Amino acid sequence: MANPKRRLYGRRLGRPLNAQRREALDELLPKLQPGSPPFPQSFEKVWMEIGFGNGEHLSALMRQNLDEAFIGAEPFINGMAAFLKDIRDEPHENIRVWMDDAILLVESLPSDYLNGIYVLNPDPWPKARHHKRRIISQDNLTKFARVLKPGGALIMATDVDDLAEWMVTQASAHPAFEWTAEQADDWRTTPENWIKTRYEEKGAKAGRQQSYLIFEKKTATAPSSH
Ligand SMILES: C[S@@+](CC[C@H](N)C(=O)[O-])C[C@H]1O[C@@H](n2cnc3c(N)ncnc32)[C@H](O)[C@@H]1O
Repeated sequence: MANPKRRLYGRRLGRPLNAQRREALDELLPKLQPGSPPFPQSFEKVWMEIGFGNGEHLSALMRQNLDEAFIGAEPFINGMAAFLKDIRDEPHENIRVWMDDAILLVESLPSDYLNGIYVLNPDPWPKARHHKRRIISQDNLTKFARVLKPGGALIMATDVDDLAEWMVTQASAHPAFEWTAEQADDWRTTPENWIKTRYEEKGAKAGRQQSYLIFEKKTATAPSSH
């Protein structure tokens, strides 16, 4: 899908791929491209993970929920290859992957399609002049709201306090979303059945505190179409 609006700021290529990862990528990436709609058959629940890194969280979710469907977006080729190698010998009917800017894929999804979107440890872009690169923005929230079902979840996590504050401020200011936190320390408490990402594990070892920011798409809002 060629699109002049692509905005990718992070790296796409790292170390050369080893043979097994290269094979998994060559074999599975073309097979697992999202169609329109993304899956040929319908699933009751469909989830998306944006920026899945090496995909440990996504593969764990898939293994725990075999009758639900998952779409993963990760532009970093080494991350994508690691994930595809990991799931190579498993059933693939319920997984689709996108190796590019997640926003392009979100723009192509049907409305009211997803039960939830995971955005876990997105790039923090700490410099003020780079804040506009952050994936959580009013424009992107409007795009997420369109593709989420009413009551669908936007599940965000970070251990960068400034980014946590940014994400809460952005999502709280957006008319389509409401914060599910009921008590002040909810966002510091690991949600039940939470799967830790590799990034979160590293942060915890280094003594960093993770924030869990879970918003819902309001049921009565009709977000603008794109
Ligand atoms: C800090 S890493 C976190 C990886 C993983 N979620 C974790 O928690 O371990 C952020 C990831 O977001 C990906 N990313 C950055 N911009 C993206 C975009 N526009 N669409 C999809 N993924 C993106 C990067 O390639 C990177 O793998």
